[in-house]
Amino acid sequence: MSYRAPSPAERAWLARSVELARLGRGAVEPNPRVGAVLLAGDQWVADGAHLAFGGPHAEIEALIASKGAPLRPDTLVVSLEPCSATAGKKTPPCTTAIVEAGIRRVVVGALDPDPRHRGAGLALLAAAGVEVALDPEGGASFARENAPFLRQLERELPHVVLKWAMTLDGRIATASGSSRWITGEAARADVHERRAYADAVLTGVGTLLVDDCRLDARLARPLPRTPPWRIVLDADLRTPPTAAFAQLADGRAAIYAASDAAPARVAALRACGVDVRHVARAASHGVDLPSVLRDLHRRGVRRLWVEAGPRLAGAFFDAGLVDRVCAYVAPRLLGAADAPGPLEGAPRLRMDEALALEELGIERFGEDLRIEGAVRRAVCAAHEVRA
Ligand SMILES: NC(=O)c1ccc[n+]([C@@H]2O[C@H](COP(=O)([O-])OP(=O)(O)OC[C@H]3O[C@@H](n4cnc5c(N)ncnc54)[C@H](OP(=O)(O)O)[C@@H]3O)[C@@H](O)[C@H]2O)c1
Repeated sequence: MSYRAPSPAERAWLARSVELARLGRGAVEPNPRVGAVLLAGDQWVADGAHLAFGGPHAEIEALIASKGAPLRPDTLVVSLEPCSATAGKKTPPCTTAIVEAGIRRVVVGALDPDPRHRGAGLALLAAAGVEVALDPEGGASFARENAPFLRQLERELPHVVLKWAMTLDGRIATASGSSRWITGEAARADVHERRAYADAVLTGVGTLLVDDCRLDARLARPLPRTPPWRIVLDADLRTPPTAAFAQLADGRAAIYAASDAAPARVAALRACGVDVRHVARAASHGVDLPSVLRDLHRRGVRRLWVEAGPRLAGAFFDAGLVDRVCAYVAPRLLGAADAPGPLEGAPRLRMDEALALEELGIERFGEDLRIEGAVRRAVCAAHEVRA
């Protein structure tokens, strides 16, 4: 089906919707970042943006914001084709809400790049008598703003956020391995908030053995409705059944072990309620990360929060599996040469080999700073969805 192109005035509102979409950076991935504007004729009525993974879509936020406005909106301008399917979605289809709200004209930036839904939302709106315009150039700007979403569609792997806490001189633990606590209470509470947004929180057995961590989101407020999976990568099942991780009987603990891990250890951990999953060993050591991530994705994990020590964190980087970094920096110094830094892994000898972060965000939590950003990747022209 073909749709008319937006007028110059509609294009200006589309640019505004793309600005609003940016408000979701860091919070909605790997969902698409989407912004929406409601108009009455050519008069602005309300804005909306998709602000949290699993939260209302931009169109719904705008409709909520328009309640009680002096003008009744008749036009929706939105950076991405409204969703029309319920299956697998955390919210009802936006097309239904749009039609029920009496919107007569919808101006869309880009088609949904997911081939299962592409064009379906616009066809549904048109069939319901809504006038539809589609920007033939909108796919390029959508692709620029939505690399995490497109990457997830293409690779069918979870969106990976790698977190660490470090002193100002770049140490994530003392030389003896102690890392409790580098940051203060406010930063640690924020970590639990971020864990609560994830579908799974993952670490390596090295961290588990030193920290006896639970990997839950107990400090998050409100507590997540569905607590994240708690995952440990542990090829030989060195995790003791007495570990706090295994003792927390929430039915959300899983360990990825090598297929040849000792059956007695498998049985002991399963007896505690831990879901032991077998995958191939990695060529170097530990378990094969792409196999783990594919399995997590297959089980519905879309947002993965990784809090590993330098060995596993470095392996994630070397495998090109990190989408975003979230580092908490404490105004403290440890100074010892043998106190570890956040990342092991393949050496990079020239500064131009360093991975760059973009879309930086810096926020203060008590005395600590949170510095986060997306790992910069080239935008692949193949992702640009053309009308
Ligand atoms: N400050 C912070 O933010 C922070 C966060 C986490 C940890 N830490 C500190 O980090 C230290 C632990 O560091 P670590 O490097 O030993 O722990 P780690 O990276 O969490 O765990 C490493 C272990 O994970 C297992 N693993 C499974 N698959 C792997 C893979 N594909 N690649 C790499 N490892 C894999 C390996 O054991 P197997 O071969 O036996 O499977 C490996 O020895 C502790 O002192 C802890 O306190 C600090």
